[in-house]
Amino acid sequence: MKSNILVLGGAGFIGSHTFVALIEQGYSAAIVDDFSNAEISAIQGIEKIIKKKVKLYKGDSKDAAFMARVFKAEKKIDGVIHFAAHKYVSESVKDPLKYYDNNLNSLIVLLRLMNEYGGERAHGRAPLLVYSSSCTVYGQPDKLPVTEETPLKEAECPYGNTKKICEEIMRDTVHSGSPLKVIALRYFNPVGAHESGAIGELPRGVPENLVPFVTQTAAGWRKSLTVFGNDYDTPDGSCVRDYIHVMDLADAHIAALEYLRKQKAPYYDVFNAGVGHGNSVMELIKTFEDVNGLKLNYSIGPRREGDIIKIYADVRKINTKLGWKAKRSLKDALRDAWRWQKTLGKKAC
Ligand code: WQD
Repeated sequence: MKSNILVLGGAGFIGSHTFVALIEQGYSAAIVDDFSNAEISAIQGIEKIIKKKVKLYKGDSKDAAFMARVFKAEKKIDGVIHFAAHKYVSESVKDPLKYYDNNLNSLIVLLRLMNEYGGERAHGRAPLLVYSSSCTVYGQPDKLPVTEETPLKEAECPYGNTKKICEEIMRDTVHSGSPLKVIALRYFNPVGAHESGAIGELPRGVPENLVPFVTQTAAGWRKSLTVFGNDYDTPDGSCVRDYIHVMDLADAHIAALEYLRKQKAPYYDVFNAGVGHGNSVMELIKTFEDVNGLKLNYSIGPRREGDIIKIYADVRKINTKLGWKAKRSLKDALRDAWRWQKTLGKKAC
């Protein structure tokens, strides 16, 4: 039997796909989620894929008493993957305290518990932690692609700042002599859905991110997509991102766990998780149309405030150290995202 992994935020977009990958690769795992930005139907979708019941703890991961009960109930936790964070750039600008409170406190509660349970009470084993960080910590880099050594710029928004601070909290905790082994994965732009169409991305309300807006427009939930600017200094004038298939990203978490298992405690490091090249918004729209044989209703609008113009990852570190490489293409991701969207029917949002 492989290790037992606790997945905080396991009903969310990346969490649900990673949970499936864990179970499919022989791990035992349980989900903690408060469903503040996830639907209970995600659990049903997971169960359809893994063909068994999900072990679920419904609650808030920044609630220390609740989390202590989860740790007690699970008895043996070999590792934790922490996805339970708020993630919207513009919401974080409007309500920074919501972001600082949730994103920082859920991590602090977790590290305290892991220190306690990973020390004497876990027979000296060093518990593993894989943390969802973000390429947003780089801001607009001067040089591309960005490596893990690229100096971090001041965060563009409170959300980005919480990711920077959380990385520092983990680094300082590990350096303080705690028994933890930690990897922060700096995600680029996760897109797509599980190949089965049973789980995918379903943000509450109007999507802030590009791909759910694209699929919801194609489905008629939204009238038209606005491309935020086509006069940037990029090949076609629209912004460039490193779009990574969510199932590839799920596998990156498992590669990180496997790598951590072999390291000596204490351990802390950061890895870029992307495909290693960029695609523009216009290229993404064209690929979506081609691969799914449809036309998307879109128009060119003004630039979005605070948008990064161009970013993509240098992935040599994660390729060589963790032995992980993205296998799926943007075409795969956009085909899978559309397959998922079609299962949602004609709901008007
Ligand atoms: C992608 C591109 C937009 C919507 C995300 C996360 C953030 C972070 C990094 C992740 C941009 C354009 C979008 C629309 C558009 N961390 N766009 N019309 O800005 O890269 O940020 O990745 O873990 O949390 O939000 O992603 O999907 O919002 O935008 O033209 O309606 O699509 O301008 O160029 P972004 P995004």
